[in-house]
Amino acid sequence: MAEQTVQAKKPVKITETVLRDAHQSLIATRMPTELMLPIVSTMDKVGYHSVECWGGATFDASLRFLKEDPWDRLRKLRDGFKNTKLQMLFRGQNILGYSPYADDVVFNFVEKSIANGIDIIRIFDCFNDLRNLKAAVDATNKIKVLEGRGHAQIALSYTLGDAYTLDYWMNIAKEIEEMGADSICIKDMAGLLVPYKAAELVSAMKSATKLPIQLHTHYTSGVASMTYLKAVEAGVDVIDTAISPFAMGTSQPATEVMVETFRGTEYDTGYDQKLLAEIADYFRPYREECLANGLMNPKVLGVDIKTLMYQVPGGMLSNMVSQLKEQHAEDKYYDVLEEIPRVRKDLGEPPLVTPSSQIVGTQAVMNVLMGERYKVATEQTKDVLRGKYGKTVKPFNPEVVQKVIPGEETITYRPADDIPPQMETLEKEMAEWKQQDEDVLTYALFPQVAVDFFKYRQAQQEKVDMTVSDTKNGAYPV
Ligand code: CO
Repeated sequence: MAEQTVQAKKPVKITETVLRDAHQSLIATRMPTELMLPIVSTMDKVGYHSVECWGGATFDASLRFLKEDPWDRLRKLRDGFKNTKLQMLFRGQNILGYSPYADDVVFNFVEKSIANGIDIIRIFDCFNDLRNLKAAVDATNKIKVLEGRGHAQIALSYTLGDAYTLDYWMNIAKEIEEMGADSICIKDMAGLLVPYKAAELVSAMKSATKLPIQLHTHYTSGVASMTYLKAVEAGVDVIDTAISPFAMGTSQPATEVMVETFRGTEYDTGYDQKLLAEIADYFRPYREECLANGLMNPKVLGVDIKTLMYQVPGGMLSNMVSQLKEQHAEDKYYDVLEEIPRVRKDLGEPPLVTPSSQIVGTQAVMNVLMGERYKVATEQTKDVLRGKYGKTVKPFNPEVVQKVIPGEETITYRPADDIPPQMETLEKEMAEWKQQDEDVLTYALFPQVAVDFFKYRQAQQEKVDMTVSDTKNGAYPV
């Protein structure tokens, strides 16, 4: 008789990212809903901890490029996933946009996300300023009491630097627990977390909090699956992976590989490889199609070791190169690379993730091109120094504050405290387009893109009416 499989003692859980981060990372978030739906019932059988399927850039890309209502996508996925939790990514007070909103908009967005099918909301802030996460966490907890559904996960943007000691991560983990979040995610957006450091970090954070810890990383620098292995051995509870056709490169490690890695160990997921193979078979032709039509660039599939060398996210480097090209200053590449960590230090050494990555990168380019540091500062750099993005882990460089915003004060309270309620005004502004309550939120996040979409939607609806009434009334303009 064959040996019995080892009884799983602490099965590692998996969040599948193919419907959100994986296609955001590899094909600029262009996977349409109709491509997702046929495989949902199979995915629902795997037993994933959750499927990440919404938030991040999916909202913007659906409206802008796919002409789809993102709320409609969420409802369709909810209908299909009968047993699996659905997860979204939420940019703290910025919701899914790039600048902070009033608390009433945050509350409404959380409420509607859960009402339309989201179970787990992963909330992050580019400075790890917990005050910028509080409104979203409180909203989730409130809805949870009312609806019996909703899980607030706080994601810490992982970064390196003098201030980011093990004590920093342990203390912030404790604060998150006190805030009433349900779990913590270590969000390593650039693939900076190397295997042995991951073991150290996870052990330290586990000793500081009882909350479950999830690890999110990207394959960009080539170490991600080893990082998961060490993190799981150190006690991490959940890892984020992508089914193989949409794994690796700038995406996550492959689901099947991690499942096989832990088979027969105390971390065995128990997932059925045949089911996973079915899912991979489904997505493989789409991958081939994306490679053939150029949506997937083979360049993003390799190992980008510069990420580790310069500790700068891949996307930020490519932004920088294109900014330099525009100015015919490609020869300044290495000067800018050296300027980035200096600007980061001046601005309080924040993690480099949207939007701080763009702010630091653009300012570094300006400092080099102008030949004098902070001769010109962007409006975003000024706002960072005014405290409008929140509190950084280290203080700002006082000389830079003096030069960039002379005579101005840096606020020390929560930036959103300055923003009065917005829902009523937003409702009025977009009343003519409103077909569902969710439309107000769509408009709040991306006003111009939303109106373009509403116009498109109306035209489509009128086209349908036209064919219905065509026979009796003749042609209608669309
Ligand atoms: Co990610």
